[in-house]
Parts: sequence; C-alpha cells; structure tokens
Amino acid sequence: MSDEPLPPRTAAVIPAAGRGVRLGPGAPKALRALNGTPMLVHAVRAMAASRAVSLVVVVAPPEEAATAAVRNLLTEVALPDRTDVVVVPGGETRQESVRRGLDALPDDITIVLVHDAARPLVPVDTVDSVIEAVRDGAPAVVPALPLADTVKEVVPGERGEPEPVVATPERARLRAVQTPQGFDRDTLVRAHGAVEAQGEDATDCAGLVERLGQRVVVVPGHEEAFKVTRPLDLVLAEAVLARRRANDGF
Ligand code: CTP
Ligand code: MG
Repeated sequence: MSDEPLPPRTAAVIPAAGRGVRLGPGAPKALRALNGTPMLVHAVRAMAASRAVSLVVVVAPPEEAATAAVRNLLTEVALPDRTDVVVVPGGETRQESVRRGLDALPDDITIVLVHDAARPLVPVDTVDSVIEAVRDGAPAVVPALPLADTVKEVVPGERGEPEPVVATPERARLRAVQTPQGFDRDTLVRAHGAVEAQGEDATDCAGLVERLGQRVVVVPGHEEAFKVTRPLDLVLAEAVLARRRANDGF
C-alpha cells in the first residue's frame, strides 16, 4: 500500500424510499411518472449527467417487491459507460435511508453527493458546482436559493387555529436549501454516526455536519432543482420538461 492520496472519486446517493404522503395516494413518490418517465429515472440521469459522478447508489423502498422493481427499472435505463448503478433497500426515515446508501459505498469513493429522488430536474451545472466546491476543500456544500416569501417563526398550534408569531428573521439572510448536497465522505459518515443514537429524522444531511462543528457552505442553487412534494409540483415539473423539449427542438 502506498500513502499516495486516492484520486477523488465521486458517488451520488439518491434517497428514494419515501412514500410521498403529501403527494397523495398512489405509488411511492420516486416511481411516479413525469411525462411518462418515473421521477427516479430523471433523478438518476441528472446525477449521471455529471462527468465526475462514477457511481449512483439508489436507496429504494425497502419492501422486497419495490426494491426489485427499482432494480429492474434501472437496468433498462441507458447511462454513460462511466456510471455504475447500485440499488439498496431504504429505511423508515430519510436519515436511515441515506445511512444505508453510505454503507454501500466502495472504499475508493472520497466525495459523496446526497440527492433527493424528489428533485428530478436539477441541472448538471448545479451538480458540477457542488462537486467543485467540495474539491476546493469545503467539507460540506449545499445549493440554495434566496426566499421569495417572508418567513415567520410561530408557536405551532392546532391545524387552522391562529398561531402566535415569535419572530421574523431578516429574509435577506435566509436561504432555502436544495440537493445535491456534497460532502467529503469521511465528514458525512462521521456526522451520521454522531447523531444516529439520537433517533430523530434529519431532513438535511448538512445539518448533521453543522452539529459536528464543521464548516458548511452554500453555493447558488437553481429554480429547477425544486422538490416535488405536493400535487401542484407535478404540474410544474411536467411544464419544465415540456419547455426543455421545446427548446431542444430548436
Ligand atoms: N426518503 C427516503 N426514505 C425515507 C423517507 C424519505 O429515502 N424513509 C427520500 C424520499 O424518497 C425523497 C427524499 O427522501 O426522495 C426527500 O423526502 P420527501 O420529499 O419528504 O419525500 P417523501 O418522504 O417520500 O414525501 P412525504 O414526506 O410527503 O411522505
Ligand atoms: Mg418525507
């Protein structure tokens, strides 16, 4: 064994094991179609579009049939030769699903992206700028956008009841974070290990790194990296795809 540092190899972990409760009844969210193609396939292609990404780890719904269905689905997807795909079963929470994805990484991966299957339309330039910031030395990188709405902190009450306002953070200092979030692999694995015992669901991997006291930086996100969460988001996503198709035609 030499002590030479390994050349950075990048993997993308795609948590796709959620049910999509807020989207309403139907198949698991990642398997819902956008213009005829499952959201997960769009998300895998979005990661594989980056020349830096050599492995995509998809974390599928854990039921045996669902994991098998995802595996079958992805064998039919044409990807660049440089990109391998692995499918593993997910867990009860996003955090648990991400951890299972991290467990599946081979030793030579040094940079990890974590990307929601529910953000199928992220442009490759956003993916590449996240990877570049990690290569430049940031242990954790988050794409994010300024907010359109002013945000208020409240004391949450019963649904529909008036809620007292506690504070109004200055909007210019706030960012809405997206994925892919990019990490130095060791930092992310340590961050997950440190909070695992606490039994809560972190919806944001970078938050775990912040708790370690490590530096997290924000780079510009993209409006097309929005998360498909509610039914109206499906309409927007299909409109974005239709616009891309029209533009490609010229
Ligand atoms: N996710 C996961 N494992 C879970 C829960 C969520 O891999 N146990 C993934 C989802 O598949 C999604 C991403 O985490 O790609 C972001 O989660 P979210 O948008 O909340 O998706 P769901 O949990 O599926 O949606 P909902 O909260 O409405 O049920
Ligand atoms: Mg969820």
